[in-house]
Amino acid sequence: PVLVVDFGAQYAQLIARRVREANVYSEIVPHTARVEDLLAKDPAAIILSGGPSSVYADGAPFVDPALFEAGVPVLGICYGFQAMAQALGGTVAQTGLREYGGTAVEVTRAGTVLSGSPEQQTVWMSHGDAVHAAPEGFEVLATSEGSPVAAFEDRERRLFGVQWHPEVRHSPLGQKALENFLYEGAGLAPDWNPGNVIAEQVERIRAQVGDARVICGLSGGVDSSVAAALVQRAVGDQLTCVFVDHGLLRDGEAEQVEQDFVASTGVRLKVVDARARFLTALAGHTDPETKRKIIGREFIRVFEDAAREVVAEAGDHGQEVKFLVQGTLYPDVVESGGGEGAANIKSHHNVGGLPDDLQFELVEPLRTLFKDEVRAVGLELGVPEAIVWRQPFPGPGLGIRIIGEVTAERLDVLRAADAIAREELTRAGLDREIWQCPVVLLADVRSVGVQGDGRTYGHPVVLRPVSSEDAMTADWTRMPYDVLATISTRITNEVPEVNRVVLDVTSKPPGTIEWE
Ligand code: XMP
Repeated sequence: PVLVVDFGAQYAQLIARRVREANVYSEIVPHTARVEDLLAKDPAAIILSGGPSSVYADGAPFVDPALFEAGVPVLGICYGFQAMAQALGGTVAQTGLREYGGTAVEVTRAGTVLSGSPEQQTVWMSHGDAVHAAPEGFEVLATSEGSPVAAFEDRERRLFGVQWHPEVRHSPLGQKALENFLYEGAGLAPDWNPGNVIAEQVERIRAQVGDARVICGLSGGVDSSVAAALVQRAVGDQLTCVFVDHGLLRDGEAEQVEQDFVASTGVRLKVVDARARFLTALAGHTDPETKRKIIGREFIRVFEDAAREVVAEAGDHGQEVKFLVQGTLYPDVVESGGGEGAANIKSHHNVGGLPDDLQFELVEPLRTLFKDEVRAVGLELGVPEAIVWRQPFPGPGLGIRIIGEVTAERLDVLRAADAIAREELTRAGLDREIWQCPVVLLADVRSVGVQGDGRTYGHPVVLRPVSSEDAMTADWTRMPYDVLATISTRITNEVPEVNRVVLDVTSKPPGTIEWE
């Protein structure tokens, strides 16, 4: 793989994505990994990401010069570029001058990474310190007002660096620069694509599972459906899918799974009505992480019961279900703090929300993939488009969209409001443009309204339409006012408990997509 060393900002994920868009497989590793550990992964190339630090800050992450002796091609970006310059004996100056945003650079020599670049170009910068002298053996390729050395390379040792962020779309030639590094600098072929994942994962799943029985938690969403289809391809009817109706679903969800997925794949499906069990477990709880952990735990308990039934129904005594398939994605892993060195933002139900005494071994064939890659894999596997293009819906469901305690009445209110919003978004043809639009019930907030001749004292719901590429970052969707107006009018007319509809205009970061 190409290893992307994460220096702690949000950029590492983006770089990893861009590398895969260039059809080269990439993985993220923490900056705390030792050089031996990096080399043990047999990297084809290494990219040092940007980060929030200054090389002069106390405890600033540091790059072991041994990394550059291993003969592996390296590209340093922003902080990674400065750390590289410093490790190799160049000069990094604390100029006090910040370059931020679109910045003009002059390309003085195209070299490898900038080959095909015009002499003058605009790139996205975000840094304080600047490289003033390149290390010995390096050639300077570009300069900007604040950065005398804005890009360099040592072609012989295959070491490269740029001060700016080629991975962001605001650097128009950024993807080209990354591809130059991968193809020319590191000599890699663009031969990875999500389709390769299928053959590789089928092999792995067979090796892991043998002839044991497997169950898969199927939610009807893209991730679990694609995971199930992959496992089905690998081990056929050793697989039983379990659909848990936890009462936190939206309108029509259970029916849709049977219609869309089971009908097209013929997979064996077991539907479990666990509504009472989840409500009881959630009663009295308001803390988001507690709710997430309860839901994660109850899911597993339901799977354990279902597994026993599967064995009993199959009549093969003693043959236990040892494996549980989950549609865990790369962002789930990274955001649950599983990306080694990443902060725990929230416990995604299928990662950080798992109980400690888990009886199953997990099969997670999508654990290294981003959402768009999962969609590509799904299409290739013949999963119906209606599922592949479904908007994401979180496993904990409406449980994390009721701010406050989850009760049956509140779920009914939210389900009604959500159904209206979804219907109108579909009618307006916005389903693909909008990544997803959570509808959130502020169950403990009340405000005064007037409906008919009377005063109301009802609850607000929040519309949270977002646009995103992979849910790691997102922006609020500038959707047409008239669609918003229709949704608002219909919800306040048709859902008596709701007397106010508000729009969430926060990007991610700083907000997350879901409210809890
Ligand atoms: P956040 O709220 O972290 O959400 O910005 C990012 C994406 O993940 C979805 N999400 C989840 N999906 N289990 C899931 O399967 C979870 O526990 C979970 N929490 C959030 C969210 O809907 C968005 O698409």
